[in-house]
Amino acid sequence: MTSEDVSSEDVSSEDVPGEDVSGAGAGAGRGEFAGLAAVVTGGASGIGLATATLLAARGARVACLDLNPGGVPEPLLGIATDVSDDTSVRAGVAAAAEALGGIDVLVNNAGIGAQGTVESNPDDEWHRVFDVNVVGMVRVSRAALPYLRRSAQAAIVNTCSIAAWAGLPNRALYSASKGAVQSLTLAMAADHVREGIRVNCVNPGTVDTPWVRRLLGSADDPAAELAALQARQPTGRLVGAEEVAAAIAYLASPLSGATTGTVLGVDGGMHGLRLRPAAPS
Ligand SMILES: NC(=O)c1ccc[n+]([C@@H]2O[C@H](COP(=O)([O-])OP(=O)(O)OC[C@H]3O[C@@H](n4cnc5c(N)ncnc54)[C@H](O)[C@@H]3O)[C@@H](O)[C@H]2O)c1
Repeated sequence: MTSEDVSSEDVSSEDVPGEDVSGAGAGAGRGEFAGLAAVVTGGASGIGLATATLLAARGARVACLDLNPGGVPEPLLGIATDVSDDTSVRAGVAAAAEALGGIDVLVNNAGIGAQGTVESNPDDEWHRVFDVNVVGMVRVSRAALPYLRRSAQAAIVNTCSIAAWAGLPNRALYSASKGAVQSLTLAMAADHVREGIRVNCVNPGTVDTPWVRRLLGSADDPAAELAALQARQPTGRLVGAEEVAAAIAYLASPLSGATTGTVLGVDGGMHGLRLRPAAPS
């Protein structure tokens, strides 16, 4: 990694605009992450960018480790990193820790999709998706743990998926990778609880991000596909990236010191609710 890979050197928390916290619980919101350093993988787009932005607004110094960190806005620090490459991960995590003065919070969010049944994807694709979605989290966590052990407020949050909980059609490979992420989260929580490092994950439903917009764009009938995705969630709409970010921030927060080994749904009720069909209007 070269210094050109770092898109912003200025990560002073004094520059972070205050967040509107009207209605937030006591202590939550503005300044909750003051003095803490956070690393967000896949932090240049979608859920990762929304999370990095929220953590910074609440006082954290934040580095976004991403394949394409070029567009990461200040005060976020973009660092080019490929989570499927151990050398790249070690360099990216070390650069983040040096620039931020340590690491207190790690958000393992980088991930890729795959479509198809168990008959659809060749072995190479199975290995590739697991390499990014599962082993990527292993690599980044492994590199970050020495820094997290030095923190009094250490937390890891993994971005998992409703696909770990519910059988979704045509998502065999993606679902298997997210099922592994959910199990990995619980195993890591057990391994590191006595070191004071909390580990949790979020399970979003379908979130309105560039990823989902790309999927919709490639559908035969994007409007019908969007309507089907909206109807699948009891709230009748897609989840906002900011809503997932808020759940990740909750789990990462020093205020959540008793919460570890949990799976938090952010899915518009998709996992837990069974509605009757809407009455005709
Ligand atoms: N969008 C959804 O509906 C949804 C639902 C549930 C879970 N998720 C999960 O949320 C996470 C983020 O998804 P999103 O919708 O924000 O996607 P996105 O495509 O908008 O953003 C993903 C980011 O990850 C980065 N990335 C991809 N491969 C990488 C690699 N090898 N190394 C480093 N960075 C890499 C990309 O450059 C991109 O910036 C993923 O783990 C995804 O599985 C998404």
